[in-house]
Order: sequence, then C-alpha cells, then structure tokens
Amino acid sequence: MAKTKTPPTDTLPLLVRGDEPLVIERLRRHLTYLGLTHTLLSLDTLLAWASRERPGHSALLEHVLANEVAHKSENRLARRIRTSGLVEHKTLEVFVWDFQPSLDKSLVLELARLDFVCRHDDLVITGKAGTGKSHILKAFGLRACVQGLSLRYARCVDLLADLHAGLADGTYPLRLKAWARPQLLIIDDVGLGQVRLRDDEPTAAHTLFNLIDRRHGKLSPSLTDDPRRASASV
Ligand SMILES: Nc1ncnc2c1ncn2[C@@H]1O[C@H](COP(=O)(O)OP(=O)(O)OP(=O)(O)O)[C@@H](O)[C@H]1O
Ligand SMILES: [Mg+2]
Repeated sequence: MAKTKTPPTDTLPLLVRGDEPLVIERLRRHLTYLGLTHTLLSLDTLLAWASRERPGHSALLEHVLANEVAHKSENRLARRIRTSGLVEHKTLEVFVWDFQPSLDKSLVLELARLDFVCRHDDLVITGKAGTGKSHILKAFGLRACVQGLSLRYARCVDLLADLHAGLADGTYPLRLKAWARPQLLIIDDVGLGQVRLRDDEPTAAHTLFNLIDRRHGKLSPSLTDDPRRASASV
C-alpha cells in the first residue's frame, strides 16, 4: 500500500529551551514532509555550521534554503540533459574558432544566446562534413538545458526510426506529439538516405514534414545538414 505523508506538527507539544533533540526530530519530520531531502541529509553538517558560525536568523534561513535550491536545480539540470537525448556534452568554450576562419564567430555567439528559440524561429546549419555543425548545435542544446528550456536532440535517422516504429505499434500519434512538444528540437545530421522504408510507410520527407509543420511558428526546430547528402532519397 502507498505510504502517505502526514503533517508532522499535529501531535507534538510546543517546545521550550532544552528540548533540542525533540526540535531536531520535528525538524527532520518537517523536512521529510516537504521533500527537502538535501537539507535532511546534510542536517548535522548544517547544525554544526550554525553553532560554529552563529549566523543571524535570516542568514541561517537563507543559507539552508540556498543549499537546497542549489541541489534541486543541479538535479533538475541533470535530468533535463539526461532526458533530452544529448549524449555528448559539447561546448562552445572548447570550440577552436581558428579551425573555421570562414565561420562568423559573432553570429554563432549571438545565436548561442538562444533568442531564436524564444522567437520560435527555425535554424538550419549547413556546411561540409566535419566542420563542427553538430558540435555547435550540441553546445546550443546544452545551453538550452542550462536556461531551463525543454530540449529533444536526435540524429535525423534515429528520430525517423522512432516515428516509423510508432506506425508498427500504433503509437505514431503519441510519438509525433512527444517530438513536437519541446521548446527546442535539434535534428542533427539530416542524411535521409540512410532511412529504410517499407512500401506502406510514408516517406521520410513526409514524416519529417509532418513534424516540422506541427511545430512551425510555435516551437523552434534546429537542423544540421550536409548539402552533399541533402539530395538523398526522400
Ligand atoms: N572547430 C572545432 N573545434 C573543436 N572541435 C571541433 C571543431 N570542428 C569539429 N570539431 C570536432 O570534430 C568532430 C566532428 O565535428 P562535427 O560532428 O561537429 O562535424 P559536422 O559538421 O557535424 O560533420 P557531419 O557533416 O559529418 O555531420 C566532433 O568531435 C567535433 O567536436
Ligand atoms: Mg554532424
């Protein structure tokens, strides 16, 4: 049977000086009830810090809550990245601009602010193989997660395979909805020639159009594409 949490304050008497163990017991129950797990786990350390440093009341409260907030936001960021499909954590900080002197660095840095996502604009990065297109978009993806934007990242071939799998088991509408939902959808390495199709399935181009069209003007898709592969069988 599911365990339900009950408020911890209902049965205990008011506390007076000298009731320290009872106060701490109540504190643990409050923290458990509120789901402040980080504070609960580090309570002994926090109490030791408080008796050592003797901060004022507001400073003590702020210190405790700031620790909990930092822990929760770290966890949220880690979850956002994990569920985005972004496996490689590329950053612009390690991007060697001198490798691509023809690249407009200030434009890339401007795009990296991700204002285009808030404007619901589309972004297509095109260029020769191995020139850092995926690196740049993965870095944008990581920044989106840090900014608290929802992200799905996928290579085009994997995205289409997922949607086509939905045709087989009747989950296509659900999958399409899921891909259409995030604020930023990165479709990397648009090389449609690799997609295997059966006769009764819509073409890769049709499937991709369906998804992009659903998001168009509402949520940003970003694509990378090698123009030499763009003529592949769609
Ligand atoms: N200017 C650069 N600075 C640092 N690393 C780079 C740079 N350009 C490319 N790389 C690295 O080289 C590898 C290949 O780059 P990437 O996959 O981004 O190229 P691409 O343009 O997407 O290629 P493709 O067209 O084949 O998809 C990656 O590991 C990437 O991090
Ligand atoms: Mg690439």
